Amino acid sequence: MAFKNILACALLSLASLVVAQDRSTAQVKAAFDNANIPANAEITFNPSVVLEVTFPQASARPVAVHAGIHLPRNQTVGPPQFAVLGDIERTQRFVVATVDLDAPTPQAPTAAQIRHFLGSDFVRGANEELLKELVNTTAPVSGWLQPTPPAGSDAHRYVFLLFHQPAGFDQQTLVTPSTSISNFNISSFAEATHLGNPIGGTFILVAPDATA
Ligand SMILES: *[C@@H]1O[C@H](CO)[C@@H](O)[C@H](O)[C@H]1NC(C)=O
Ligand SMILES: *[C@@H]1O[C@H](CO)[C@@H](O)[C@H](O)[C@H]1NC(C)=O
Ligand SMILES: *[C@@H]1O[C@H](CO)[C@@H](O)[C@H](O)[C@H]1NC(C)=O
Repeated sequence: MAFKNILACALLSLASLVVAQDRSTAQVKAAFDNANIPANAEITFNPSVVLEVTFPQASARPVAVHAGIHLPRNQTVGPPQFAVLGDIERTQRFVVATVDLDAPTPQAPTAAQIRHFLGSDFVRGANEELLKELVNTTAPVSGWLQPTPPAGSDAHRYVFLLFHQPAGFDQQTLVTPSTSISNFNISSFAEATHLGNPIGGTFILVAPDATA
């Protein structure tokens, strides 16, 4: 029956998606530590859930991220989609932030952090899968900005962090859609807005487009 085939396909693609991604918080924490992300972002990173990030593609299958994956820039058009492996409540709201720690270069990150995304009011989608999709119920404060490391730079680390959303977060005025995206500090922002430590995260490495 056709329906069975569709179901089999859906299960297969979910399985391959999960395989391509991280499956344990220990794996992600090790990747963050190896890449010096907690020190450089001045955050405490002891994830309790796995944050899965997926980039939709115009004419190919979505690209699944695992912590530390190198992505060609043209796969990062986005906006990315988010899901969580782990226990999260239906009533809980989440904030997702993405920062570039290496602008303009990892050797001299004088403009870092650059804010590439800041969105709140993510909630669990309707699905009952192991991988729980997150859907935003409001527009992002800082919409997704595709990585564009400058020519000649080494690859940059783009770090995604998932936070529990505290009551009143949407009233914060430190970051608005018109706030400069440069010289952002996720650590001080989290402190000022009572986000606490991130409960999950991942990161991608993106190098500049090759110059002809
Ligand atoms: C994306 O960029 C890579 C080089 O980084 C290139 O090989 C590939 O063909 C590009 N893909 C698309 C769909 O443009
Ligand atoms: C969710 O975010 C996307 C962009 O990331 C935006 O286009 C969409 O309007 C947002 N949804 C709601 C309900 O605001
Ligand atoms: C970022 O904020 C943290 C916490 O407030 C602070 O300790 C740190 O010095 C700040 N980093 C920079 C580069 O300003």
